Amino acid sequence: MKSGLFFLLFGLISFGTQAQDLFFYPHLAPLLQQKCGSCHRKEGGAPFELLEYKHFAKRKGFIREVVSTGYMPPWTADSHYRSFANEKQLTVTEKDSILRWLDQGGKEGSKPPKKVKNTVSTGISDPADIELGMPEAYVIPGNNKHHYICYKIPYELPGDAYVKAIEFVPGNRSLVHHASYQLLGVAPGVDHFRGPSYYVFSPDSTERIDDARDFSYFGLIDSAGNYPIPVFHSGYLPGSGKQEYPEGIGFALPRRGVLLIRSLHYSPTPLTATDQSKIRLWLADVPVQRPLEFAAFKPRMAGDTIPADSIRTYVINIRTKGDMSLLHINPHMHQLGKSFLAWALTPAGDTIPLVHIPRWDFNWQEFYRFKHLLKIPGGSIIHAEAVYDNSSANPANPNRPPRPMLIETGSMDDTTEMMRLVFLYVPYWAGDEGVCLE
Ligand code: HEC
Repeated sequence: MKSGLFFLLFGLISFGTQAQDLFFYPHLAPLLQQKCGSCHRKEGGAPFELLEYKHFAKRKGFIREVVSTGYMPPWTADSHYRSFANEKQLTVTEKDSILRWLDQGGKEGSKPPKKVKNTVSTGISDPADIELGMPEAYVIPGNNKHHYICYKIPYELPGDAYVKAIEFVPGNRSLVHHASYQLLGVAPGVDHFRGPSYYVFSPDSTERIDDARDFSYFGLIDSAGNYPIPVFHSGYLPGSGKQEYPEGIGFALPRRGVLLIRSLHYSPTPLTATDQSKIRLWLADVPVQRPLEFAAFKPRMAGDTIPADSIRTYVINIRTKGDMSLLHINPHMHQLGKSFLAWALTPAGDTIPLVHIPRWDFNWQEFYRFKHLLKIPGGSIIHAEAVYDNSSANPANPNRPPRPMLIETGSMDDTTEMMRLVFLYVPYWAGDEGVCLE
């Protein structure tokens, strides 16, 4: 009797696993469309579409490789150290089912009667309250070189506006490699609509983001010498979508201001192309109570040189003042970056893990969003360590053979290195630990 039951159960279990053939429809499509289709779609930034069966069927071997190595979806932070709300990587179970489906031949199954709708929100159906963008298409030269520009978009609003969500929308998704932008308020005496709207960074110089030069070039300094007032700063990378803030958190959009795209990096193209990028803004009905703040930390060794064929570590050690609640963290290095680790040490002696990137990849930087507002008590030490590999063993090293590399000149291009740790935060309020950012 007992053994009969055993066999019956065994039979059921083995039926459950062996006969469970996986098919694209209906088993894999929802997962793959969400985890791959967010970038691999027409305006998504990746080089080809991955939405329908035919897109996957063409590349089964390639997909097996990028999924089993973890190269796709791109995510470089160690989620055992700190896991984030915007994690893109696959769970072990998800990875297993993709590989099992491929092992079984990657079969299609029966396509649902209606065309499968792309379930990924493109945001387009969610109209923004304000859009600020390049008034006309920018022409990207077809010279097969990286191309960097700085671009000013002036605006004037009829009244007060409080931003609760923001999204950078690249016009040319296959060429916009990344963007870093600021919203600035201008003084009453400044005619911010006048003057040039952009300049091009010359490809081989050590030009840097320089407030004095940029503000004066774009005519944003008033007669008393006052600079425009920065209210918000963020960036775009492939896969980064809309940033939404919890209730009451956001920023006031100045009535008269500019969207200054401090650096817009276009990938090399052999053919002349155009781009018309913009930001979309969603407004809160009531004034934001808690304006967002930024802190950017850098090491003390400005102007130091990383010798050729060497591995160097730079550190940041900074004591915070008041209690902070972190929303996002963004580590930044250039191509010599090898790893990045940051934590906070509280006055009570507790360690708060912040971010660990064991294998830095310049192409996959992120604004890592915490799962809940993360409290950093005042008086904590923010500690960060960035390791740079200036040897020829680093495949991303822009110099072959390696050359001495300056660090911390603030330069835009890959002739110098950089170390930054950026926090997006608000001053702490009691109960913030429970505020969800997912
Ligand atoms: C965050 C955006 C993003 C997500 C999510 C993403 N990809 Fe990609 N993928 C890219 C970009 C950009 C490239 C081209 C650059 C590169 O190859 O590194 C790429 C390249 C690829 C390639 C070509 C690799 C090569 O060596 O040329 C494959 C295959 C691929 N992706 C498959 C996938 C699969 C499968 C998924 C989901 C499991 C996925 N991707 C998720 C952005 C993404």
